[in-house]
Amino acid sequence: ASTIDLAVIPGDGIGPEVTAEALKVLEKAAAAEGLVLQQTHYVLGAQHWLETGETLPEDTLADLRTRDVILFGAIGAAPGDTRIPSGLIERELLLKLRFSLDHFVNLRPSRLYSGVGSPLADPGEIDFIVVREGTEGPYVGNGGVLRAGTPHEVATEVSLNTAHGVERVVRDAFRRASERPRKKLTLVHKHNVLVFAGHLWKRTVEAVAQEFPEVTHDYLHIDAATIFMVTDPSRFDVIVTDNLFGDIITDLAAAVTGGIGLAASGNINMERTAPSMFEPVHGSAPDIAGQQKADPTAAILSAAMLLEHLGFAGAARKIETAVVADVESRDGGFRSTSAIGDAIAAAL
Ligand code: IPM
Ligand code: MN
Repeated sequence: ASTIDLAVIPGDGIGPEVTAEALKVLEKAAAAEGLVLQQTHYVLGAQHWLETGETLPEDTLADLRTRDVILFGAIGAAPGDTRIPSGLIERELLLKLRFSLDHFVNLRPSRLYSGVGSPLADPGEIDFIVVREGTEGPYVGNGGVLRAGTPHEVATEVSLNTAHGVERVVRDAFRRASERPRKKLTLVHKHNVLVFAGHLWKRTVEAVAQEFPEVTHDYLHIDAATIFMVTDPSRFDVIVTDNLFGDIITDLAAAVTGGIGLAASGNINMERTAPSMFEPVHGSAPDIAGQQKADPTAAILSAAMLLEHLGFAGAARKIETAVVADVESRDGGFRSTSAIGDAIAAAL
């Protein structure tokens, strides 16, 4: 049997709980394909930093690089835990993984499943994907402060956009659009104000569009996109956007499709020069950690994306089908994290 060399980073809070359910489902799906899941668990996150002062040591990163793929839970300290500098774990662990492993496609699908309540009165059919750039934009940490602490303090945060970086993510988004029934791509940016980066994105979309004549494309400013996401989310098929706009719009997308408990994501290196990483969009939710209250569905759907990335589309579809059936059967009564995982695994 062939083996999947899987790295697992359960992380903090509800991370380990939801990851356990994702692994349960992944094990079952892999076994049905005759695949062996070989797991290596890595203890990383806010708790680990408190105990050791380590975020992501170089030798751990080097070890992660040798794996086929990474399953990530969630990281982050409890709000109000002042022992951890704000954003430290996010930047030095999660973003460091995305940047070091060149996860330039941050793929975030949004679907409103039957039986799931949307906060929108008349949501219609919602089924789109956001292809969020994952390695550039304002996330690169290119900034600084002058005259810190004085009334004349100046803070800058430069958004980095390279032709190479924009082109590869735009091409990926067009390819995904070309494989979907509606074949429609929307660039979301703010080129009326962010003129330099905006025009690079716009020009790149126009150029790459020539390679995909079957795909129609349009453009929305980010502010207008947030309106349509609420008033007419059915209009979206594939959205391509920069790192920060993608962060914001995918939280809104999760909200309109029934919440962050269902939102899955992949941090994908499409050039396959390093392992890709799959994670629920939600965070570590310390307030409900350890109580079996977290919904593992987002983690389970992330595991399906992981299988798809590795070329096991059939197994991925089976997990999705089991999730769709489970979600549809929910009646709002309490089910523990592991009960949901058990039910989805049993339906495979
Ligand atoms: C996400 C998160 C991260 C991001 C944070 C934790 C750095 O919000 O995955 O969407 O901004 O990308
Ligand atoms: Mn986010």
